[in-house]
Order: sequence, then C-alpha cells, then structure tokens
Amino acid sequence: MESLLKKWDGEEVIIRFDNLTKAWIIIAIHNTRLGIGTGGTRMKPYQNLQEALQDAMKLAEGMSYKYAVSNFPRGGAKAVIALPDKFDSTERPDLLRRYGKLVCQLGGLFETGPDVGTSPDDMDIISETGDPYIFCRTPQKGGAGDSGPATALGVFSGMQAVCEQLFNSPSLEAKRVLVQGAGSVGNPLIQLLRDAGAEVLFSDIDEAAIAHLQAKKGLKHIHPDKIFDTPCDIFAPCALGGILNKNTIPRLKCLAVAGGANNQLSEPADAERLWGRQILYAPDFAINIGGAMAIIGIETMGWSRAEADKNVTSVRQTLKHIFAIATAEGINTDVAARRIARSRLFEDQ
Ligand code: PHE
Repeated sequence: MESLLKKWDGEEVIIRFDNLTKAWIIIAIHNTRLGIGTGGTRMKPYQNLQEALQDAMKLAEGMSYKYAVSNFPRGGAKAVIALPDKFDSTERPDLLRRYGKLVCQLGGLFETGPDVGTSPDDMDIISETGDPYIFCRTPQKGGAGDSGPATALGVFSGMQAVCEQLFNSPSLEAKRVLVQGAGSVGNPLIQLLRDAGAEVLFSDIDEAAIAHLQAKKGLKHIHPDKIFDTPCDIFAPCALGGILNKNTIPRLKCLAVAGGANNQLSEPADAERLWGRQILYAPDFAINIGGAMAIIGIETMGWSRAEADKNVTSVRQTLKHIFAIATAEGINTDVAARRIARSRLFEDQ
C-alpha cells in the first residue's frame, strides 16, 4: 500500500475506517491546479483496501484529465466507499451521513456527486451532513438531479465527431451502435441514438433492464459473453472500467470505441493496441465529461439547463481536436488527449 501511494502523482489521500460497518472511505485528491478537487462517490464492495485505494487513485487521476482536456475549471478527485462483504443495507443511510460529515470537515477541499453505486437520493442523504459540497441532489432538495442524461448527451456529441472522422458526416443515421450497460448513462444514450436513427444493440446483466428494453423498445440484446465479438460501427462501453485489454481488443469487430464508462482501458498500452487495429478510440475522459460539466455549471455557475446542454456538446470539438492531433502526429488518440491535458495540469504556464 505504501509503495502504491508513493508512486502516485496525485496530491493527497484521505483514508477513514468506519468501524460500525467495517467500510473504508477513501478520498483521493489528484490535482487541484485548475480548481477544487471534484469527483463522484463510488460505493461498492472491493476485495480489500488495496484494491479500493488503487481504484480511487486511478479514478481521481481520470477526473484531472477529464477537466483539463476540456479546459473546465475543476480539479481531479474521487471518493470510494468500499463496502464489506456482508453489508446490512439498513446501515447505508447512517454510513452516508458519516461520510457527509467527513466531506464537510474537509472544508471545501473536496466536492462530490454520484458515481457507480450512488444516486441523487444518496446525495440528498449525504448533503444532510455534507452541505454545501454535494452535487446532484434531487430537484426536490434543490439540486440538479441525475448527471447521467448530460453525460449521455456529451457521449452522443462525441460520437458525432467519431462519425465525422470515419464517414465524413456527423450523422448517426443507420449506424450500428452497441451499448454496453443500460444504466444511468446507457439508457438516455440509447434514446438519443434511436432518435438519431441509429441501429442500437445493447448488453446488460440486469434481467429486468433487459426485459424492459427488449419488450418495450424492441431492442436487440447481446449476451455479455458475445459483446466483444459482435460486429458494429461503434462500441459504447457504459458500464464498469477495464474492459479494453489485451484479451478483448483482438476480438473487437467495431470501427470505433466511444462510450461513457470511466477508465475503459486496462493499461495505457491498450490505446496503442486499438490504434494498431485502426479502431478509433474516443478517450473516455474526454468523451464522458458531460454530466460533471452540466451539473457543476448549473449548480455553481448559474447555467440554465439549456445552456448546460449546449456547453456539453463542446465534447464534439474537443474530440475533433484530439483526432486532428493524433492524425497529424501519428500518435494514438489517448496519448494525444493526455498531452493536451498534461500541458494544463503540470507545465508552467
Ligand atoms: N460520475 C461523475 C463523473 O465521473 C462524477 C460527477 C458527477 C462529478 C457530477 C461532479 C458532478 O464525471
């Protein structure tokens, strides 16, 4: 653990053990050069503290790159609440309240919103003790609600840049898009794609979600085992990270990867593997900023919902810029995007 922490290039990590539930709370602040450390709260079981810590640090780094590549005035950070194996869900609200108290004690060092495993309802509970550092409370509690639809809108705009690059036209009409994960981002993304005339395939592990989309919307479901072998124009990962790796990339039958999940690559070499196969990769941290951008804009910068939606579509320009640099310099898109971000995060200006 010590060596993990020491080789990280972030600023600081706060670790708290909640003995009542045996949960670990980790808040990783990666880089605050551009603004207040801001990132979601991920809540799920982990094998052990080390795995949770690693996830928090990597996710916090991703947030730094996310804001920097889009020139958005926030710093990279993330929280992980690592639940124990046997977690009694009746303890959840009080655990969230204790977590909120910690965020409040940090006095503005860290601001948070939802992520995998947490929702606007949870943000309401966290804000009871964590106010005023909590984004995405429900509208009834004065917040801007779920960030998923805005993330989906940003991903959709990014897909338009992908189509421009591949087909010389931003239109998604008749393009075959495979969405992995029909959750808070995947679901609204599916809707946007259908409205644009795309042919949508989806994959999920939740039986109820599958049945709903199949029956109500007539969508074709792809079994999770087949997801990497299914031919499509765009593959859109919108579930957990780490799915693009040396085993899955050789199997892909898509022209591009563009989706909302954080940390889609297992390791940096995976970007080169995709590039080598001439699969156009939209760097996850560039394409998935929509939710954070919209919510932070609405809740702290006075944006209306319409302004937020408009600003989120800047993802298309950000990606065009990344693709242009990658093509001109013969470097993969992930390297190109990181170079832009790094110049804002680390270099003297
Ligand atoms: N899950 C969001 C993300 O990864 C986190 C977030 C939401 C941060 C809303 C701030 C506000 O971008």
